[in-house]
Amino acid sequence: MPCSQQLKNHLPRFHLLLFLLAFAGAPASFGEKFAGIADTPPMGWNSWNHYECEIDENLVRETADAMVANGMRDAGYLYVNLDDCWQGERDKDGFIRADAARFPSGMKALADYVHSKGLKIGLYSDAGKMTCAKRPGSQGYEYQDALQYSRWGIDYLKYDWCHTGEGEAQRNAREAYSTIRDALNAAGRPVILSICEWGGSKPWEWGAEVGHLWRTGPDIVNCWQCQYGHGIWDSLGVLNIFDQQEAYRSYAGPGHWNDPDMLEVGNLPTLSENRAHFALWAMLAAPLIVGTDLVNLDENVLKVLTNKDVIAVNQDKLGIQAFGIFKTPTIDYWAKPLDGGDWAIAILNRTDEPREIHANWPVFNAVDDLTGRVLDFYRDKYAIKDLWTGKSAGTTAEPLKTTIDARDVLIYRFSLQPQ
Ligand code: GAL
Repeated sequence: MPCSQQLKNHLPRFHLLLFLLAFAGAPASFGEKFAGIADTPPMGWNSWNHYECEIDENLVRETADAMVANGMRDAGYLYVNLDDCWQGERDKDGFIRADAARFPSGMKALADYVHSKGLKIGLYSDAGKMTCAKRPGSQGYEYQDALQYSRWGIDYLKYDWCHTGEGEAQRNAREAYSTIRDALNAAGRPVILSICEWGGSKPWEWGAEVGHLWRTGPDIVNCWQCQYGHGIWDSLGVLNIFDQQEAYRSYAGPGHWNDPDMLEVGNLPTLSENRAHFALWAMLAAPLIVGTDLVNLDENVLKVLTNKDVIAVNQDKLGIQAFGIFKTPTIDYWAKPLDGGDWAIAILNRTDEPREIHANWPVFNAVDDLTGRVLDFYRDKYAIKDLWTGKSAGTTAEPLKTTIDARDVLIYRFSLQPQ
């Protein structure tokens, strides 16, 4: 067959390929991660915080159904992510398989189901020989695992750091995560790579070239402020983690995010704590990966999770993490520069008592060292929108007088008024 005839026969497929390349996220060349797939912080669900190892295909299907029915998908939560314990044994050729008892239909069928709902699907693996729950890890199988994920249609990979050796014998984290990046890249399907190395090798310093988000510290636990020992590491409560994040602020931005860990929204005892946690993670430009039971979700918690205005603060296209403009042991004020000259301002009540707020705005004049953006309340006037009520809270020409519940956050959008 003449060459031109051959080309003609392949033209429709060639067009399809061009179409896929244009809309599926940019292809990565060797040594590069996939671009354009995490320009704003990823949003979705992950099984670990609520279910730990108790997961199966029915749970994943029901969760995907719930995310469609309750409006979460349409609010932006796209990823349905399985954490540890989905894995079974490798087959005789070394390909990883799903745990056959818990995922009898197989991972491809599950991924197809999740995709049919307009959602995306994520898996979890580990840079060591075993995962933290002692399932097979990816060390030595990186290219084979990446190929298998791409055959199944996986869109997101959380890659953990258990069993990677100790002391001198420990794997080099940057090398290990770059290897899985290159393997995913070779497999060709765009995948968000979530670096879960707990912060030991300062992934904020190298992670932007390797993955799309990196954990800055140890695991979160569902308490407001606490620290639980697990031998060689401690899990931390919401405020403990929040208080560590400002140090990493300059490293976050479109395509590369600090990950203070997945949300415990829905798992905390009071509505105030749940919404405070959500608002703080929104201010941090953190990935919003929900870790609760979505099938039996409390209505008020759902309202928090689907609050469009708070999500817009998190998803703002500038991707700038908030900074503290006024901090005390009881009340903090945080500011996040937003696109178009707007700001998000959050007021955090750390204490167990409701507090009166009397905010005379010029007291909070501030300069953001990172971006050079200036909050000058003498010069500029902003309209204030309360993002919990959706209503106006006046302008910055007047002091804001209100009360804030115990363990709660007030969150506002400040929009610059024409002079
Ligand atoms: C931890 C990780 C958790 C969870 C768990 C699963 O290392 O930080 O988020 O993935 O492993 O075993």
